[in-house]
Order: sequence, then C-alpha cells, then structure tokens
Amino acid sequence: MDKQHRKAIIAGNWKMNKTPKEAAALIDQLIPAVKDAGCEVVICVPFVDLAVALEKTKGTNIRVGAENVHFEAAGAFTGEVSAPMLAEMGVEYVVVGHSERRQYFAETDETVNKRARAAVAAGLKPIICVGESLAQREQGVTEELVRLQVKIALGGMTADDLKNVVIAYEPIWAIGTGRTATAEQAQEVCAAIRKVVGELYGADAALALTVQYGGSMNAGNAAELVAKPDVDGGLIGGASLKADQFAVIVDAAGKG
Ligand code: PGA
Repeated sequence: MDKQHRKAIIAGNWKMNKTPKEAAALIDQLIPAVKDAGCEVVICVPFVDLAVALEKTKGTNIRVGAENVHFEAAGAFTGEVSAPMLAEMGVEYVVVGHSERRQYFAETDETVNKRARAAVAAGLKPIICVGESLAQREQGVTEELVRLQVKIALGGMTADDLKNVVIAYEPIWAIGTGRTATAEQAQEVCAAIRKVVGELYGADAALALTVQYGGSMNAGNAAELVAKPDVDGGLIGGASLKADQFAVIVDAAGKG
C-alpha cells in the first residue's frame, strides 16, 4: 500500500475565528478528543492565537500552524509576519496560498511560491493550497490548472525541500459551501498532483508527499474521502471549530 510511505495529516484551518480566550477553550476540548490519533494533527490558527496554542499543546500530539507568512525575513511590510518569527515561536506548519488569500488579498502563484520557499528556508512546513473555481471545473481545465499551480508553487525547491511540503487540493467551489467534492473527484486531482510532483522530483518524492483534500470535509464525509489512495488527510475549515467533529475526522484519517 502506497499510503504507508507517507503521513496522513488532518489540519484545522481556523481562518479568522477565535480570540485567544476562545482558542484556549477549544484547545482544552481538542487535547483529550484527539490524543489517540493515528495521524498527524495540526491546528492552523490566527497569529494572535499562536502563543496560547503553543503553550496549551506543549507535550501533546497537536502541532501548531499559522495561516499565512510573508516571504521576506524582515523589513518594511506593515502588518505582515515573517517565517523566522513563526519558527522562533515554535510554529511548525503554515498554510500558504489559501484560495481566500488568493481571492481577497491578491495572492498569486508567484507570491505563493515565494512564501512557500521562505517557509521551508526557515524550517517551517508549508501547506500549499491549490484548486480550481467552479467555472474552471465546468470548462474542463481543472487538471491543467492544478498542475500549473503546483509547478509554480514548487519552483526553485529541491527534492529535499519537498520533504517538508504538504499540498492541499481545495476546489474553491467546495470551500465553506457545504458542497464537497466527491471522493472520486478528490482522488482524481490528488493523484494528478502526485503525478506532477513525480515528473518534477521523481517517484520516491511523489510517493512520500502528503496530499490533502480540503473543502467542506466534515464528520460525515471524511472517512470516504481519506480512504482514497491518494488522499492523505484533509485541511478542515468549519468542522475544525467543533472539537467533537474534528475528532471524528481525525479518527477517520487514522484509519484511512
Ligand atoms: P471548509 O474550509 O472546510 O470550511 O470548507 C476548508 C478550507 O478553507 O481550508
């Protein structure tokens, strides 16, 4: 089974939710709920929640991630946070290129690449998001588009860098809409991502790459999605804000 060569990761993407106090309360519920996880468990939280998340999860199996990172190490970039800042705090993962960043904050494939490289250079693990809009899916360009997004996002990275990279396939039409991709659709695109990584970095790198699905994954549909051979866990938005639901998804991924 190819899946034994890589780690399934369930990562919560809290987006712009939870004050530090609310974060502390949710993490208190999460710790016992996911303590026996058979997969890697990550919570990607707002910058202001990172300190409390790191403190609370110390000594547990929950890893902490940020939701964005700038590509310069320091400088005149008001409002931005750099990779060395996150790394020094003890942050391990960072979401890069989420479609909400691309859509609302003018993120491009090029800046996604720069941010992902900065993350890797600082010892962080970027979760790079790719995915098509509904119009693009209907036009039949999903695979081509996602291949291109992956190629550009990984530009300039070595096979060694890739060991710390996660790719999340997130069809835009499925994010926050309650409309999940079918397990077959998720499998098809996750396999295409693994294929393009194989072309760029060789079969071993492709085999070892964690490719997540994201977009309305929840307690009810997670098991079917993560059972697919090329789906190595998920990036979870809405359902990551409810400890009981998140725990069901983590459980499914541990068995997937
Ligand atoms: P959703 O978000 O699970 O709420 O659809 C997923 C994501 O944006 O990563």
